[in-house]
Amino acid sequence: MTDTDAPPSPADLLARLTLEEKASLLDGSDFWHTQPVERLGVPALMVTDGPHGLRKQDGEGDHLGLNASVPATCFPPAAGLASSWDTDLLRRVGEALGRETRAAGVSVLLGPGVNMKRSPLCGRNFEYFSEDPVLAGDLAAALVQGVQSQGVGTSLKHFAANNQETQRMTISAEVDERTLREIYLTAFERVVRAAQPWTVMCSYNRVNGVYASEDPWLLTRVLREEWGFTGLVVSDWGAVNVREDGVRAGLDLEMPSSSGAGAQRILDAVHAGTLSTEALDTAVLNVLNLVEKAGPALADPGTFDVDAHHALAREAATRSAVLLKNDGGVLPLAATGGTVAVVGEFARTPRYQGAGSSQVNPTRLDDALSALRVRFEGSREITFAAGYAPESEDANTDLVREAVAAAAAAEVVVLFLGLPASYESEGYDREHTNLPPTQLALLEQVADANPNVVVVLSNGSVVNLEPWQHRVRAVLEGWLGGQAGGSAIADLLSGDVNPSGRLAETVPVNYRDNPTVGNFPGENGQVRYGEGLLIGYRWYDAHSLPVAAAFGHGLSYTTFGYSGLRLVPGPDGLDVHVTVTNTGPVAGSEVVQVYVSDVEATVFRPEQELKGFARVTLDPGQSREVVVALDRRAFSFWHTGVGRWVVEGGEFGIRVGASSRDIRLATTVEVPGDGVRTPVRADSDLATWLAHPAAGPVLLQALAGTPWHDLVFDAHNGEMMRAIPLLRLTRFPGFPLAESDLPGLLADADAGA
Ligand code: BGC
Repeated sequence: MTDTDAPPSPADLLARLTLEEKASLLDGSDFWHTQPVERLGVPALMVTDGPHGLRKQDGEGDHLGLNASVPATCFPPAAGLASSWDTDLLRRVGEALGRETRAAGVSVLLGPGVNMKRSPLCGRNFEYFSEDPVLAGDLAAALVQGVQSQGVGTSLKHFAANNQETQRMTISAEVDERTLREIYLTAFERVVRAAQPWTVMCSYNRVNGVYASEDPWLLTRVLREEWGFTGLVVSDWGAVNVREDGVRAGLDLEMPSSSGAGAQRILDAVHAGTLSTEALDTAVLNVLNLVEKAGPALADPGTFDVDAHHALAREAATRSAVLLKNDGGVLPLAATGGTVAVVGEFARTPRYQGAGSSQVNPTRLDDALSALRVRFEGSREITFAAGYAPESEDANTDLVREAVAAAAAAEVVVLFLGLPASYESEGYDREHTNLPPTQLALLEQVADANPNVVVVLSNGSVVNLEPWQHRVRAVLEGWLGGQAGGSAIADLLSGDVNPSGRLAETVPVNYRDNPTVGNFPGENGQVRYGEGLLIGYRWYDAHSLPVAAAFGHGLSYTTFGYSGLRLVPGPDGLDVHVTVTNTGPVAGSEVVQVYVSDVEATVFRPEQELKGFARVTLDPGQSREVVVALDRRAFSFWHTGVGRWVVEGGEFGIRVGASSRDIRLATTVEVPGDGVRTPVRADSDLATWLAHPAAGPVLLQALAGTPWHDLVFDAHNGEMMRAIPLLRLTRFPGFPLAESDLPGLLADADAGA
């Protein structure tokens, strides 16, 4: 090849590879690299974790976050980012992640993770976005677009139904298809369709008995054929079970390296004729395509601005925090005034990210205590008492005494509480949602000493608020704020930035209220998704349960009014227009949430479901019209009878609110249906036959004038009669149709369906 020759295309390369080289390309070369083929100039690519920062290991590799990695910006993990409900922010964070990935010579960032927060106990909830698939999908799509705009790829994970850490490598998620489609696959689908991630990472677990890593339905039929995914499927680290079954199902790349074992199995299967060369070539081509896509960025890595990324991490953390409560406007803290007692070790030693494979070595680390001291220097005295040692189970009486004294001497107390690192992690689930007893006891004593307590929380998954929130005046949920979370908290407490986060998950009154009780984390290798569609707020709404903090809730230092709801036909279907006005004293951002309800349906529909949202920033007194587009999918359900999305025509409710429990405006709309009827079979019940547009009238005619007609439509017994399968009715003495008439009737039904 001369310098002026174009590099060979993936198809050319494929044609020149030996069988052994092909098999080797489907395996990693170590923990983080793919295999090169030096003979043909195919380079090894590097892929690394993780969703909210780069974890590039230069030394010994591991996928559990144990060994060191090079410094990188640690953005807030997904639990925080999702609470921003801000696609523009997610895109900008994605761009920054992409720049760092590219500058490090890494080709694929292993994230984001869009698994649903099925149970508040899942150890990895800090890394996931939401209990709602539209919110998770749209935010993750923006992140993926941002990363990939920098010429590097993402890995959408963990596909699919990986909603717990207990037995994560073997458990079978038993989920009915409608629930899978409407809840557990939807976020993946939205990202694939909107952002085409370079790779998808299949999960460790089984779905309805089949390992995700060897499930042709999941990896090929749904992912590629239905959603149009064109990238590469990589295994989660160690998710491969039977390697050749994986290739056949659509799993292209095994990671990390199998030390040759995977390649050997592939070769043996090809030689034995049990794995086709077409299946092998398809997988190899996906690897070669990835290598081709990665080429330009590897040739020109570029740099990034550490300070600018830190500033973005700070902005992201301010937008991630959710003001849950603010009685009497105790926040923001006035610029001048009496002493502010900062209590709690987390103010000095922040808990800012979760444990496991996503753990980033930050470029710097802000703590809230220092940030508050700088912010109020010369205007308010800031005192500090640690109060507790995060990982200690026993209260330290000296620390408690100091904290109570500081609280008693102050005008206001800012009490930093949260989950110690050991309470939540990849690899295991939580057993409860409570804060540590030492912290709860401290809170009681501090609240006894001072009536003005503001709690700032540091946690990646929801904590129980109910036992104590009445004791304090304000609660600011800071999540795990990333490396700039400390300064972001100071920005919010001081009012330099107005809180704008909204909960992406419900906080139940008691975790025992949650929908998975009795079905989590499963038994005998299976976990049954018995709550079906009723994840998160769908469950609390269906059961009219009170919640500690509703999905979508979040306060601001200002207030917003809603007016002028109108529906306008739009390019995608229906545009929801609503005017939002900042009715309070300071600038702020509101998140407009659009929920759809199906007023009458022949299948079960949740009470309401989020189908769109928009964030708007307004000066005091300013109004703006916000438009949220709804496509037909927003009204549809997965019809198991016909195996596709169906809109059942009729009236739908459109609810516009500031949270799922704070609906401000509502209207209804008539949506035309798809006209889909449940197909009939010989053993379908009479009601189904009668409802069929083609077969129904024929049947009715046969019944007309016979005593069966009256029986079937009798006010008392008709319902019982109509529940009998037609096949069996034909055998009843005197029924006007015989079993032998059924083939003709079925043909009529098929022709007219
Ligand atoms: C995790 C993935 C991660 C991979 C590589 C696995 O244990 O489940 O999320 O990307 O390790 O570190």
